[in-house]
Amino acid sequence: MTFVVTENCIKCKYMDCVEVCPVDCFHEGPNFLVIDPDECIDCTLCEPECPAKAIFPEDDVPAGQEGFTALNAELSRAWPVITQRKEPPADAKDWDGKPNKLPLLER
Ligand code: SF4
Ligand code: F3S
Repeated sequence: MTFVVTENCIKCKYMDCVEVCPVDCFHEGPNFLVIDPDECIDCTLCEPECPAKAIFPEDDVPAGQEGFTALNAELSRAWPVITQRKEPPADAKDWDGKPNKLPLLER
């Protein structure tokens, strides 16, 4: 199993998650983070750290967001690892909870 970053991370990108991951699973894109499913050890530590509640176990990804499992796998191969939290976007709170953010994902 793995944990998966889902849609509400897009443009929120709070990055609290990276600080707790013991095996450096997180990879960073311009406005979204993903988890490398081959590295994740299912420790559960990141899930409660996300202020946007965007992280789910693979088996519990919300309906309609199943595609994020494959997206995490794909983008974790393309994007660099991030191990230290940076400043989130200044307007992160404005985007928290907004629907239909997938078209805004930057690659
Ligand atoms: Fe890292 Fe654990 Fe989260 Fe997997 S569940 S991404 S190992 S913190
Ligand atoms: Fe995204 Fe939540 Fe991490 S918003 S960057 S998954 S803390």
